[in-house]
Amino acid sequence: MSTYEEAAKALKDADALLITAGAGMGVDSGLPDFRGNEGFWRAYPVAKRLGLSFVELANPRWFDEDPSLAWAFYGHRLHLYRETEPHKGFKMLLDCAKGKDEWFVFTSNVDGQFQKAGFDEDRVYECHGSIHHLQCTVCSSGIWSAEGVEISIDMESFKALKWPKCKECGSTARPNILMFGDWGWDSARSDDQEERFDDFLQRCIVKKLKLVVVEIGAGTAVPTVRITGEKIASIYGAKLIRINPRDFYIDSNIGWGFSFGAVDGIRKLLL
Ligand SMILES: NC(=O)c1ccc[n+]([C@@H]2O[C@H](COP(=O)([O-])OP(=O)(O)OC[C@H]3O[C@@H](n4cnc5c(N)ncnc54)[C@H](O)[C@@H]3O)[C@@H](O)[C@H]2O)c1
Ligand SMILES: [Zn+2]
Repeated sequence: MSTYEEAAKALKDADALLITAGAGMGVDSGLPDFRGNEGFWRAYPVAKRLGLSFVELANPRWFDEDPSLAWAFYGHRLHLYRETEPHKGFKMLLDCAKGKDEWFVFTSNVDGQFQKAGFDEDRVYECHGSIHHLQCTVCSSGIWSAEGVEISIDMESFKALKWPKCKECGSTARPNILMFGDWGWDSARSDDQEERFDDFLQRCIVKKLKLVVVEIGAGTAVPTVRITGEKIASIYGAKLIRINPRDFYIDSNIGWGFSFGAVDGIRKLLL
């Protein structure tokens, strides 16, 4: 049996599926990943002109110091993720998940693409939050939906002309996303998701389910997704299938790594 057949069989035989995903999951839908500074600057050439890396731009301080810049970045991404149609691999994974006793999605993506593809909101843990939700930069007025919020942006100067405000205190609102050096993120929504995720893992133990982890497009710079998947695989004795065109290395004791893009990798695995 080839390693691909081995991995496909493990997935087929599993009765619980954990899908973990990073920005690479969206690349086949036409979304950029932010792999390294070059990757980020390819997606946002204007950031290169401003001399700002992803880590520097994805920082909550801009909402105080220059909200028009902060909202140019996040407003552009909000519109982009809204307009994007999830690629075929999402549906294939969802069909596979629905055939299992238990399943869950763990992702650092803030783009809401899993929900858009039909994944049940209650079975997704967005560990870095969601761009489709907002919070205040000042007060504790909670988290609200960004539905209907439109940000007009002058792309030439990379300045938002108007941005959402808090309904309670009128201060600048921000996406409910965990940024770098971020002490103001309201984690309440993600905490609820985490609780449901923990319940899922607990049910896997109680029901003695055979768990498989399928990881797609998770990078190495912010390795939250990779580490979480590896840790769960080792604790639960599960195999991890890593799909990534570049960063596909995995210890063979943990699972299999395949150098494929998301759609090709998923298709091959589910054949
Ligand atoms: N869509 C989003 O929500 C989004 C996009 C960019 C960054 N982010 C945030 O930035 C951080 C980035 O970390 P990250 O590891 O998710 O992204 P990353 O940009 O650092 O890495 C992306 C990974 O995807 C892989 N990849 C590239 N093309 C692929 C394809 N066609 N199919 C499968 N994989 C492919 C790359 O090899 C790389 O390993 C996270 O904290 C995340 O919250 C989110
Ligand atoms: Zn407020």
